[in-house]
Order: sequence, then structure tokens, then C-alpha cells
Amino acid sequence: MTTLDTGFAADAATLWNDPPTLPTKWLYDERGSKLFDEITRLPEYYPTRRETEILAAHSVDIARRTDAALVAEFGSGTSTKSRLLLTAFAHRAALQSRSLRYVPIDVSAEILTQSSHDLSLDYPAVSVEPLLADFTEPLGLPSSDGPRLAVFLGGTIGNFEAAGRAEFFGRIADGLAPGDFFLLGADLVKDTGRLVAAYDDKAGVTADFNRNVIEVLRVALDATGLYPDDFAHIARWNPGEHRIEMWLRTRRDVDAYFAALDRNWRLPAGAEILTEISTKFEVESLESELRSAGLAQEALWTDSQEDFAVILSRR
Ligand code: AVJ
Repeated sequence: MTTLDTGFAADAATLWNDPPTLPTKWLYDERGSKLFDEITRLPEYYPTRRETEILAAHSVDIARRTDAALVAEFGSGTSTKSRLLLTAFAHRAALQSRSLRYVPIDVSAEILTQSSHDLSLDYPAVSVEPLLADFTEPLGLPSSDGPRLAVFLGGTIGNFEAAGRAEFFGRIADGLAPGDFFLLGADLVKDTGRLVAAYDDKAGVTADFNRNVIEVLRVALDATGLYPDDFAHIARWNPGEHRIEMWLRTRRDVDAYFAALDRNWRLPAGAEILTEISTKFEVESLESELRSAGLAQEALWTDSQEDFAVILSRR
């Protein structure tokens, strides 16, 4: 019945924090993942187009620099951008008569199954080995004959707080062997108006995406008295933390009951729940964070507007 597969009920405790928060992954059930996919095509949402531009320009170079035999992608989603990499990597592997393995890692089973199926059809020479896992938890990468490349695209690194980010980079470094690579996509600090618009689009898709988490809650925790329409979407720039924050603000008093927890959740009108953070980076500080984790920078590319950066580093 639930569409999220990694035992989320235990994480619900943060609903009673001040302010209440939710694990970001709750946003990415089947509907949420589809809405996010729609977001990536919105006129206001520039990151996907910028990153795609960078990958289109440099995938062949990335394949040449890494010669990876295994590409593992964290939070692969629909793997649209991964296709740019896979095309370049598969081509290089074929030229060298070696095989290529692709390991998409995601929390949504539906998206993972669907995208793996599609990729297997489109890349018959690539061995697609999906892994249903939460990349915020420790995770072992499959071993490989040749160099491995861990990939974390889309600016999803921005979802972590600074401490979580350091931990994540540390885990990536631990999971890689010397000579393996890490490819990271990160959104950069820019004009606040453009940033806010990217997370509060005119068509209201991001609002639906944000509110969908209420429906996820309702189903996962068997709730009564919980309605997405009772919550308003807010996207706000936090200058101190240089991040976009998505909040849900109650439009009226909410009095819900979670049968799965046998617990009430009461919020007055105007209460705010933090549902997602999207940190934006300065290139220099990101480089030094990677370096601190033992990941040495090999190359950095930005798009023509310098909106977004893709960094290749080596363990
Ligand atoms: C999937 C985390 C990269 O932070 O830009 C987009 C999520 N949320 N619009 C981002 C998101 C609302 C997105 N990431």
C-alpha cells in the first residue's frame, strides 16, 4: 500500500520538533518523483537544464578521464541525465572491448524498476543493476574490475545540512578505493529572485510537490484529519545558511490522528513545517569540503551562465 519502501514510520518523530520537520525523502514517493520530474521541465527551474548542458558538453571527457567500469548513481530518479553519461561511457567501454555496469540507487521502487527497464532496452551493452536504498544511510558499492565512478547529480547534495554533507562525502570516500572517482553536481549561489522563482513556480507544480508530502504522511501513517489543501506552499531564501527552504504553512488549525503511531498531531493555523532545504554553493567552499573528505579535484565545469557546477574528484 505504501509507495515508499524503507521503513519510514520510525522517522516520523521529527513531526513533533519545533519547528516540525520531515525527512526530505518523504517527498519522493511515486507521485512526488513524477512531480519532481515535471519540475525539472518548468521554465523557472534552471538547474536541470544547466547541468544537462554541462554533461552534454563534457561526458566524453569524463569517460576518458575516469575509464570507469562501474558507474553508481545516488538518487538516480528517472536517470534522464545519466543517459548522457551512459552514452559516453558505453561508447568508450565498447571501443576498449570491456563491459560497463550501471548501478542506479534510489528510494522509490517504482521509479527504479521503470527506469532500469527502460535503460536496459536502450543500452543493451550496459549491465543495469538497480539498488533500492536510501543514500543517507551507509551503503556498500559493488566491487569492480576497473575504476568505479560514484555519481551524485541534480544538486541533491543541497538537501543535506553542513554536517550531513560532510558525513555523506566521508561515506562516499570510504566506499571508494584509491583511484575511484566521484562526480558531483551542485547548484551555485545566484540572484535571490531567480532562486525563489525556481522553487515557487507560476504553474504551482512545486506547491503540489510540497503538499504531496501530506498525502504521503496520511497513507504511510494511516492518518485521519489530514488534508493537503490545508497547507500552503512557501519557498524562502535563508541568507545565513545560503539555502532555499520549502515550508508548508497550515491554513487552519490541523487536528490529525496517526493510527499507525496512535498519536495526535495538532498544529495551530499559521504553523510552519520545514520539508526541504536546497543549499546553494560557492565553488571554493565546495572544493575544500571535498578535499577535507579525501576527494581531490580533477576537474570542474560550469554552464555558460555559471549557474551550476559539476565537479570530478578522485579518491
Ligand atoms: C532534487 C533536491 C535537487 O533542491 O532543487 C526542486 C528538489 N524541490 N524543487 C532541488 C526540489 C523543489 C531539488 N533536488
